Amino acid sequence: MKVTVIGTGYVGLVTGACLADAGNNVFCLDLDEKKIKKLNDGEIPIFEPGLEPIVQRNEQAGRLKFSTDIAASVAHGEIQIIAVGTPPSEDGSADMQHVIAAARNVGRLMEGYKVVVTKSTVPVGTADRVKQAIIEEHKKRGRGNDFSVVSNPEFLKEGAAVEDFMRPDRIIVGSDDSRAITLLRQLYSPFQRNRERIIVMGVRSAELTKYAANAMLAARISFMNELANLSEVIGADIEEVRRGIGSDPRIGYQFLYAGAGYGGSCFPKDVKALQRSAQEAGMPLKLVHAVEEVNEAQKHVLATKIRKHFGENLKGKTIALWGLAFKANTDDMREAASVALIDDLTRDGASVRAYDPAAREVAQSMLGKNPRLAIVDSAEAALEGADVLCIVTEWQEFRSPDFAAIKTKLKSLAIFDGRNLYDPAALKAQGIAYYPIGRRL
Ligand SMILES: NC(=O)c1ccc[n+]([C@@H]2O[C@H](COP(=O)([O-])OP(=O)(O)OC[C@H]3O[C@@H](n4cnc5c(N)ncnc54)[C@H](O)[C@@H]3O)[C@@H](O)[C@H]2O)c1
Repeated sequence: MKVTVIGTGYVGLVTGACLADAGNNVFCLDLDEKKIKKLNDGEIPIFEPGLEPIVQRNEQAGRLKFSTDIAASVAHGEIQIIAVGTPPSEDGSADMQHVIAAARNVGRLMEGYKVVVTKSTVPVGTADRVKQAIIEEHKKRGRGNDFSVVSNPEFLKEGAAVEDFMRPDRIIVGSDDSRAITLLRQLYSPFQRNRERIIVMGVRSAELTKYAANAMLAARISFMNELANLSEVIGADIEEVRRGIGSDPRIGYQFLYAGAGYGGSCFPKDVKALQRSAQEAGMPLKLVHAVEEVNEAQKHVLATKIRKHFGENLKGKTIALWGLAFKANTDDMREAASVALIDDLTRDGASVRAYDPAAREVAQSMLGKNPRLAIVDSAEAALEGADVLCIVTEWQEFRSPDFAAIKTKLKSLAIFDGRNLYDPAALKAQGIAYYPIGRRL
């Protein structure tokens, strides 16, 4: 099938590459000339495991093209998938300007039937706005073409995006147009060979499903974080509690980890956008509001622990920081807990030596101006001259470090662990003061 993917970020690039890998002829459009140049030079602009060989083999096979040419992109695909960013506006609502701009381009230039698919995470009612934008463009041209707007939210996880796309748990198709539904069934048939994964529903339900899923996952994290903070006060251990409740199949083990607060490009903005839509609809969501409030507070828990350890004054202290990305296996630092922590520590007069296996370049462009922050090339280099070590991202390489070597480097033998990676008893035996989240020490 001929498919156009509009927006070549984490979602668009993975979508385009995986659809091409299934034999489709895919045209990826982006307005960012640098990104398209990189892709055409054989570079992958993001860190996403397994993506590079798929992009390469499909480009070589001529099934995957990258371009900034809007007219050519509209002409190419009968299916036009919008995967542009929907960042938060100042009031927390999702900024829809890129989605609407992409829809207008399609409306302005399309010939013949098109299915316009919103894969971006968008508030309920967006399909109507997309439809309206296309109709307005048709009116300007004095003629229109047949088209259908479908909501097809994406559920992939950064770090496992290729696997998630190739083997999705579900494929949500929000539409009541049988022609469009048939085309999407055909498009997704290679990705649901052992069982049917498509769930067809109303377009508004599809739009809400994406927000509901992210808000539910964020709620599990905030719930565990609140219980972790309580555990510290009353002498319980959140890891034991996690195992105790996770064993109930109605609850399950996934997404039950306490930590330094959730971040990333999705949960924070989607939780805010859902709240905003609910408010506008006159039906505020108290629970979702609390989820965000708890998370904002949780991002400062590590800094509070570090301040307490040093008797409140951090002037002249150096903190080694392991992990900058919002989670392991990505270079994405949007809303990462590390950003709030670095801000807290350096404002209080501390210096930070930070290392991340994938996010060094991203960190440099986001935080490089902070004179108290040094971004270094290895976990060992972060420890040079450091007083204490703090861990924010659960990269595999941090899970079993050489504690004896760490002990020779740190001036104050303490590890602050925002991911609960280590066994408190083992660290105690090493003579290292250990500050995890919600563990019994
Ligand atoms: N990142 C994730 O893990 C994830 C998962 C599921 C859903 N989503 C949703 O998918 C959408 C995209 O997220 P992302 O992380 O891929 O964003 P991103 O910021 O990485 O990429 C968006 C891309 O769209 C391009 N763009 C903007 N306007 C354009 C236009 N009019 N025409 C062509 N290109 C345009 C930008 O230049 C950018 O390269 C968002 O709505 C997000 O909420 C993201």
